[in-house]
Amino acid sequence: MSLYAHITGWGMAVPEQILTNDDLARQVDTSDEWIQSRTGIRERRIANGDESTATLAVEASLRALQVANLDPMDLDLIIVSTSSPEYIFPATACLVQDRLGAGNAGAFDLLAACTGFIYALNIGTQAIRSGAIRNALIIGAETLSRLVDWKDRNTCILFGDGAGAFVLQASPERGGVISAVMRSDGSGGDLLILPGGCSRMPATYETVASGKHYIQMNGREVFRFATRVMAQATEEAVRKAELTIKDVQLVIPHQANQRIIEAALRSLNFPMEQCVINLDRYGNTSTASIPIATCEAIQQGRLKAGDTVVFVGFGAGLTWGAAVAVWSGPQPVVRRMLPLRLRLYARLRSWIRRFLRRIDAMIWGRHNPPI
Ligand SMILES: CC(C)(COP(=O)(O)OP(=O)(O)OC[C@H]1O[C@@H](n2cnc3c(N)ncnc32)[C@H](O)[C@@H]1OP(=O)(O)O)[C@@H](O)C(=O)NCCC(=O)NCCS
Repeated sequence: MSLYAHITGWGMAVPEQILTNDDLARQVDTSDEWIQSRTGIRERRIANGDESTATLAVEASLRALQVANLDPMDLDLIIVSTSSPEYIFPATACLVQDRLGAGNAGAFDLLAACTGFIYALNIGTQAIRSGAIRNALIIGAETLSRLVDWKDRNTCILFGDGAGAFVLQASPERGGVISAVMRSDGSGGDLLILPGGCSRMPATYETVASGKHYIQMNGREVFRFATRVMAQATEEAVRKAELTIKDVQLVIPHQANQRIIEAALRSLNFPMEQCVINLDRYGNTSTASIPIATCEAIQQGRLKAGDTVVFVGFGAGLTWGAAVAVWSGPQPVVRRMLPLRLRLYARLRSWIRRFLRRIDAMIWGRHNPPI
C-alpha cells in the first residue's frame, strides 16, 4: 500500500518586538527608502531576552499540533531546521521534544540554512512514505538577530526572528507532499557564512574582536545565485510531480528579497498574484519564512484543500530546493488538544525525569550499574 505524507497541522510564532527600517536608520547609515526599494522589507521581529529559537519553535509547534489535533505522544519524529540553534549540542529539537512532552519521538536538528525547511519537509515525508513512521513535526525556527552584526548595514537590514511548524501525517489517500528536490553547491560556501565559533575557528579573543561570530555575506553574488536557482528548483519539482506550472495555484517562496522573488516568477512566467509575500513585515526569517508565509496564506483564505502549492527556497551552503504539495487541510477532529494542559504535563514530565536521573546518580554514585 502506498503511503502519503499529508500536512495536517501548521502554526507560527513571531516575537512581538518590531524593528522598523527607520529604527535601523538610527543605528547604521541606511534609510527606509533604500531598504524598501532594494529588498521590499519594511520591518522585522526581534526576539526579546526571554525568547529563543526553542521557545519560538515550541509556540509554533503547539499551534500546529492543535490544528492537527495530535497528541505530542503520538509524534515519531521532530526535526528542527535552524541556523541559530540554542547550542551546538544538545540539538534544539531535543529541547523542543522535552518541552512538548513528546516521549516517543526521535529528534534532531537540520542545518541547510534558509533551504532547511524544504529539506526537513522532504526528510519527514520520506520517513512517512517508507512506512517507518506515522507522524512527524517539522519546524523552521530562527533567532538570527543574535548572529547579526548590528553595525553591518549589508546584513542587519535583512534578517528577522520567528518560527513555523508543520505536522505531517501518514495516509493512504493520494496527496500531501508529492515531490521535492534538494540541491547544494559548497563551492559557494564563502558567499554567506558565519565563520567563527566552531571547529574550524574556535572562539578566541581575536575571533570575537574581529567579528568572526557574525553573519558575513556577499549580497550581489547571493542575489545572482538566488534568482537562477529559484526558477530551476520550482520547474524540477513540478516536473517530478508530473505536473506543469499551470497546475500550481500558489507559490510560497523563501522570503529573502522581493526583487529575487519577482525575477524568479518572471522567468517561470507565473503570476505574482498567486505568490505569497510577507517579507515586508518579517524580513528574512531564514528557514522559518516558508512555514510562516504558509500560515498567513491560510489565514487569508489563499490556500484551500485540494490546491497544489510549491514551496521553494535557497540559502547558505549554497543550498536550494523546492517541494510540491497538494494541500490537505486538517483531518476531522477526533480529540481536543489543549496547549496549556500539554505544556504543564511536559514540564512535569521533564521535572520527574530529571529528578529520577538525580536519584539514580545518588544511588549508584560513581559506580556503573551492574549488568
Ligand atoms: C543585500 C542587497 C539588498 C544589496 O542590494 P544591491 O542592490 O545588490 O546593493 P549593492 O550590494 O550593489 O550595493 C549598492 C550600494 O549600496 C550600499 N549599501 C549596501 N547596504 C546598504 C544599506 N543598508 N543602506 C544603504 N546603502 C547600502 C553599498 O555599500 C553600495 O554602495 P557603493 O555603490 O558606494 O559601493 C542585495 O544584494 C540582496 O538582497 N542580496 C541577496 C541577499 C540575501 O537574500 N541573503 C540571504 C540569502 S538566504
